[in-house]
Amino acid sequence: MTICPSPFRLAAFVVLAALGTSSCFASAVDDLLTRYGTQGAGPFDPAVGAAQWDRPTLNAAVGETRRCSLCHSTNLRAVGKHATTGKRIEPLAPATNPERLTDAEKIEKWLLRNCKWTWGRECTPQEKGNFLVMMRAQ
Ligand code: HEC
Repeated sequence: MTICPSPFRLAAFVVLAALGTSSCFASAVDDLLTRYGTQGAGPFDPAVGAAQWDRPTLNAAVGETRRCSLCHSTNLRAVGKHATTGKRIEPLAPATNPERLTDAEKIEKWLLRNCKWTWGRECTPQEKGNFLVMMRAQ
């Protein structure tokens, strides 16, 4: 006896497969890594990302030494606290906060804003890629 796949079952499989690849958090990060690659960056290193994260850097514009962990802490799975407003910041680690790293434009927006606030300049594509491979492994 032969088993014929029903057209409905086949269609459902195709739809689910398409959803599965587009809604996975890895794809937003992968898209950005590809984008940074076209800008000449890579390969990216999570150990360098971790070092960048907690590296005290002089923000020359404000004359203050700052780092990412000021607001997000050194434990990305923990709740952070905004350095100036004191507001709660939900964890950045996708393992504890599945909403993180799911939206490429949101990631870019916050990297731009936070690099400027922290380091007094934009991060390079290489630095952003290092941050993202470190963050997605948390
Ligand atoms: C002055 C406080 C502050 C500092 C310092 C800071 N951030 Fe943030 N960060 C925020 C806030 C506020 C948000 C947005 C609110 C939220 O999403 O919870 C955010 C969001 C993000 C996001 C968005 C993630 C997502 O998918 O939702 C990334 C990525 C990020 N920060 C990376 C960094 C990096 C890298 C540094 C260091 C260069 C840094 N942040 C330094 C306050 C800060």
